[in-house]
Amino acid sequence: MSLLTLENVGKSYGRLEAVSGLEFSVDKGTVHSLIGPNGAGKTTVFNLITGTIRASCGRIVFDGEDITRLEPHKIAQRGIARSFQQTFLFMDYSVLDNVLTGFHMRDRAGVIREFLHTRAAREADERAREQALEIVDFMGLSEQKDELAGNLPHGHQRALGVSIALACDPTLLLMDEPVTGMNPTESNEMVERIRRIRDRGVTVLLVEHSMRVVMDISDMITVISYGKKIAQGLPDEIKHDPQVIEAYIGEDTDAA
Ligand SMILES: Nc1ncnc2c1ncn2[C@@H]1O[C@H](COP(=O)(O)OP(=O)(O)O)[C@@H](O)[C@H]1O
Ligand SMILES: [Mg+2]
Repeated sequence: MSLLTLENVGKSYGRLEAVSGLEFSVDKGTVHSLIGPNGAGKTTVFNLITGTIRASCGRIVFDGEDITRLEPHKIAQRGIARSFQQTFLFMDYSVLDNVLTGFHMRDRAGVIREFLHTRAAREADERAREQALEIVDFMGLSEQKDELAGNLPHGHQRALGVSIALACDPTLLLMDEPVTGMNPTESNEMVERIRRIRDRGVTVLLVEHSMRVVMDISDMITVISYGKKIAQGLPDEIKHDPQVIEAYIGEDTDAA
């Protein structure tokens, strides 16, 4: 049932424990949100899972395998993708070509294949193109497929970032604040897409500041504060948890 498990995970920077003794599991087929006030350690947790930083202690298990000390590209190959921030897009590439870069990250033989120019290579490229088109369509970007990424409005750029991650064919998709800076319409569209991504069988681990979005979309919520887990439960349980309310006092959220 559980796809990802953190066991007693810690990360220190000198005397600061950015994450400490953290334990939680993400069940297959769910949208699981990781929330907490600014500086709580959410992004650090994402960096630990994707291997961009090393845990000081503890274990991270994905799909039955200990991935704690794997290199980032090995972790990506196992099926963990992170939705890319706007800054990662190739702004002077078309939408479709941006998504195709996701396929190349998945398929490292692609570069060599292009040199060989065999019929099999052409067929594989054709398949990649078809799948890229499918993803672009799925993310609502069909009309913009030939548009340069740099010309897209913010909401579409974020959708494109998710499309590139989906091209990596993940089992687990990590999304860090996917609706930040979006207007309400764009935000609702993104929520609907996250739901559809989950319904397609991709498990989603979400970090999101908007309480409206988190409460709307999450199957399970883990709350951290100062690097430690303070609560876990269903949206309705979390909403009324006194410790959670306490942790958020002074934060500018749209919890109301
Ligand atoms: N590279 C780093 N060096 C030192 N401290 C860091 C580093 N990265 C994060 N921190 C600290 O760790 C804590 C958690 O940060 P972060 O994971 O970014 O929180 P969040 O994403 O929940 O806002 C913060 O106190 C932050 O200042
Ligand atoms: Mg963060």
